[in-house]
Amino acid sequence: MDVLKIRGGKPLQGHISASGAKNAMTKLLVASLLSDKKCTFHNVPNIGDVEITVNLCREIGSEVQWDKKNRTLEIVTHELKTSYVPQRYSGSNRIPILMIGALLGRTDEDIIVPTIGGDQIGTRPVDLHIHALQKLGARIEYRDMKKEGAYFAQAHQGLKGTIISFSYPSVGATENTILAAVRAKGITVIKNAAIEPEIIDLILFLQKLGANIMVDVDRTICIQYADQFHEVEHTVMADRNEVASYAMVAISTKGRVFIEGAEHFHMIAFLNKLREIGGGFHIKKTGIEFYYHQPLKGGLHLETDVHPGFMTDWQQPFVVLLTQAQGSSVIHETVYENRFGYTQTLRDMGADIELFTQCLGGKHCRFASSNHHHSIVVKGPTPLHAKDISIPDLRAGFAYVIAALLATDESAISNVEYLDRGYDDFMHKLTLLGADLTRVSLPKGKTKASLHTIVDKALTAP
Ligand code: UD1
Repeated sequence: MDVLKIRGGKPLQGHISASGAKNAMTKLLVASLLSDKKCTFHNVPNIGDVEITVNLCREIGSEVQWDKKNRTLEIVTHELKTSYVPQRYSGSNRIPILMIGALLGRTDEDIIVPTIGGDQIGTRPVDLHIHALQKLGARIEYRDMKKEGAYFAQAHQGLKGTIISFSYPSVGATENTILAAVRAKGITVIKNAAIEPEIIDLILFLQKLGANIMVDVDRTICIQYADQFHEVEHTVMADRNEVASYAMVAISTKGRVFIEGAEHFHMIAFLNKLREIGGGFHIKKTGIEFYYHQPLKGGLHLETDVHPGFMTDWQQPFVVLLTQAQGSSVIHETVYENRFGYTQTLRDMGADIELFTQCLGGKHCRFASSNHHHSIVVKGPTPLHAKDISIPDLRAGFAYVIAALLATDESAISNVEYLDRGYDDFMHKLTLLGADLTRVSLPKGKTKASLHTIVDKALTAP
């Protein structure tokens, strides 16, 4: 287990570059499986989720050359070695289920993918994926295996374009359906589709590959059958989650950070909310500079939503920022039913946060009549005190890093491996900005000593 020791209380300042987006790159790798042509990617983030996806692709026959130093990656899948994704990838991340969409048009064999993982922030079902693929003509069933279940999928009769209407614009289900629809005869129409920037990046890639995809103004995406594919060169979009995370590092620590490569167009909802609470930013030619210039004002009402709304992955670090704003703010999480578990640790650090099962604010969401705590009220400003913290998931993990950067004494944060999954080179980036932090690898084994004591012992060991 790796642990981060962070001594906070310093304004962070400097210049960093945005990395390629985790939520785009992982899907682009899966999309490359549609064809047997070489795909070259630039701006590839060196993160755990890309590593897992590369391994998944290699497992089924892809040849991959990843030049991590130059951030380029070449992948070609001349033929499939297998269409069985081994069970050890079960729970690794949300990618294996997308393999079904990409492989249905490429093989007559059964495609077998283990149950999917990802962060523990709600039930995260895949019903929309399965129904859409079935509507395109795939036979999909869930079967119990030795340790846990797997989805078995095949389309022996081929796929056929149709109209699919989502009850909710799921990102993953939209991506899976687009991937399958490229190889479905005729035209597929997806209504109420997700239109996140990462999906548009996927569509740009697929257009280069040979697909014809139209995005209409009303969340409708039309995909035409394609069977002629080309070699592709594609630069991965900047990671808007990473950009927002470092923006909040800058403003909450009362510092100033320029993020090269941050794309204005993808950050509109975030920048609006930042401005409402008094956070500073300048949009420059090559990126965005974020800075603190006045005491932050609370009184905010924020609702997470699908794009173009305020992204749910920005919510956790934004809550940390709101602990430093004057007044009460309301946050209503409408994407995941269970995304406030992390607030207990913030409360232990001194934050004033109250949880509610009701939909606070304007609208009623899907979780209105559930018992899930999906709204909160944050009162600030409150000083945060250092603590021994355990990271429960990726975005909560970075929120804890920001909280630790605000605390004047020293925090020890365990389960740092979660951050490796999605934050490229974060040790280097935070150090560049002047953060006082050390990463320590601890030997395995149980002990009753506090995290702090174990870390100190590891640091002083000869
Ligand atoms: C993706 C992102 C994640 C982001 C999320 C929403 C990746 C790897 N992850 O996750 O960072 O937080 O979009 O922007 O890109 N749902 C169903 N049935 C389904 C599928 C989803 O009910 O078949 C529900 C989920 O339970 C959840 C909501 O839809 O409540 C959103 O999920 P979805 O948009 O599918 O998110 P992911 O693609 O998993």
